[in-house]
Amino acid sequence: MTSLLGRTVDVRVPATSANLGPGFDTLGLALSMYDELEVTALEPGRVEIEVSGSGAEEIPVDASNLVVRSIAHVFADAGVEMPGIRLIARNGVPHGRGLGSSGAAVAAGVLAAKGLLEGVVELDDAALLRLATELEGHPDNVAPALFGSLTIAWTGERGPQHKKLLVHRGVSPLVLVPGYTMSTKAARSLQPEHVPSEDAVFNVSRSALLIAALTQSPEVLLDATDDRLHQDYRAPAMPETSRLVRALRAEGFAAVVSGAGPSVLVLCDGPGSRLEAARIADEVTDTPWIPRMVAVDVRGGTVRERAEGPSSQS
Ligand code: HSE
Repeated sequence: MTSLLGRTVDVRVPATSANLGPGFDTLGLALSMYDELEVTALEPGRVEIEVSGSGAEEIPVDASNLVVRSIAHVFADAGVEMPGIRLIARNGVPHGRGLGSSGAAVAAGVLAAKGLLEGVVELDDAALLRLATELEGHPDNVAPALFGSLTIAWTGERGPQHKKLLVHRGVSPLVLVPGYTMSTKAARSLQPEHVPSEDAVFNVSRSALLIAALTQSPEVLLDATDDRLHQDYRAPAMPETSRLVRALRAEGFAAVVSGAGPSVLVLCDGPGSRLEAARIADEVTDTPWIPRMVAVDVRGGTVRERAEGPSSQS
């Protein structure tokens, strides 16, 4: 334990958009908005947290903080005593907007723990995904947050697994972020226990097509992003989001609810169509939407030990 004291790691984790329409709890895309964290191991029992950026007013600054809990989960799993933690977080992932902020916090904690435990316990990709999924509940946000790009995530006999795929360069994501938040728990409470089998078949066909659309045939993105398993059930909780998705789709844009909402993800075919989609968003609902013209993040979360130690001492 003593050898970890004072060790500092820098962590960077991307935003993610889960579901992508038909790929409920399965598909996710990493996007170029980032949480950046500096994590230092202190004497056990101390917790010092500074948060700036998105969600800074609501994020707990004690041991209940999700990044700290995620670090603690990895240390407990490894059988190593949890050090105290100094955490400085600059959050660029919009909070509570369906862009994977909690998955990013979990991925950041797991990566920080990996960095702090370097040379003591080795954590491979499978262990990172398993630990992050244990905390997050489903792997569709944590897989792209950890590994980047487009991921297919599933849980099999060997636990959570993922497959990373590269996205066709003709795909230009636009995220439309409203001022209000939506809780994933509330959105999940609207899901029915059973769905009609024709809707299940519909989504199987669209999600299979979506893999082709995102990797080689962007021209079929509109059909490929259609969904019957979650968006309509959740629409009453976010009517403005639902209206915008319908309006954009009626104009030919591959628009979907991002994760559990309320942001909208539009998979455009170039910069010009992103501007046009943002213009439509300005016109069709009463909600102001902040357009974020992002890129697909291909790298995923990173962790690096800082040679010179923490940026300031407490
Ligand atoms: N697949 C999840 C959902 C993503 O839609 O509920 C949000 O965590």
